[in-house]
Amino acid sequence: MTIVRIEVRDLSKTFGSGSGQVPAVDRVSFDLRQGEFVALLGPSGCGKSTILNMIAGLIPHSGGSIRVDGTPVEAGKVKPQVGYVFQRDTVFAWRTVARNIGYGLEIKGLPKAEREAKVARMIAQARLKGFEDAFPLTLSGGMRQRVSLMRTLIMEPQILLMDEPFGALDTHTKLEMHQILLELWERERQTVVFVTHDLSEALTLSDRIILLSARPGRIKQDFTVPFARPRDAIKLRETKEYGEVFAKVWHSLGEEFAATKAE
Ligand SMILES: Nc1ncnc2c1ncn2[C@@H]1O[C@H](COP(=O)(O)OP(=O)(O)OP(=O)(O)O)[C@@H](O)[C@H]1O
Ligand SMILES: [Mg+2]
Repeated sequence: MTIVRIEVRDLSKTFGSGSGQVPAVDRVSFDLRQGEFVALLGPSGCGKSTILNMIAGLIPHSGGSIRVDGTPVEAGKVKPQVGYVFQRDTVFAWRTVARNIGYGLEIKGLPKAEREAKVARMIAQARLKGFEDAFPLTLSGGMRQRVSLMRTLIMEPQILLMDEPFGALDTHTKLEMHQILLELWERERQTVVFVTHDLSEALTLSDRIILLSARPGRIKQDFTVPFARPRDAIKLRETKEYGEVFAKVWHSLGEEFAATKAE
């Protein structure tokens, strides 16, 4: 039996009021099953972050409904099984790497020894050994983003919402992050919604791509990503199959990029 973890029905969002209304999301519906890795793909401004923020319960929706594990999402009430990795890295500049990663457990009141053991494990998995006592300002963008990611993962969220977490990184660093994320996900198989406007990234990581139209975001197409797992972020791109699926989705995505430009 497949368990539905996230159920989105006719979800809409309009910002502002009166003549200043901005329709951002228009009647979006989809289901996310247990352990599925789904990419929400679409051009800038099409409402991707807005959808994620509504699923997380960070902002209210204007229409439709969202259920996480069968219960409705209410704005202002973040569900404990949901973790969020933001579009910009949100590490605390005044905390070291270890204390950034351990932040959530500190708030939760976990005893120090237990906390430190968990932090050490996360640091090893993120390939940040030797940087435990470094401050974020002294790290590269990729390292900072790994700290951000681990700060969320240490809370062991079963549902992971990620908003273009690697958007600001160069191609090489991005690929490195993809490899790390693939390895981490293979181990835990969280249910993931990964927002991006980068098709290569969506193909590398996800099982399924939900393609959104230019603003207001509507679902344009739902593609299955057929590549076998475990995946190698670099080798995957050299396969014939990758090229074929890329071409298929690219055409559809390109139409939406053009629509955004024409606005
Ligand atoms: N708080 C807000 N008030 C008014 N309009 C907003 C607000 N937040 C977002 N919008 C508008 O809603 C639309 C969708 O924004 P959103 O941030 O969801 O896009 P996005 O797909 O995440 O874009 P990007 O890829 O650039 O991050 C945009 O036109 C944006 O200007
Ligand atoms: Mg966004």
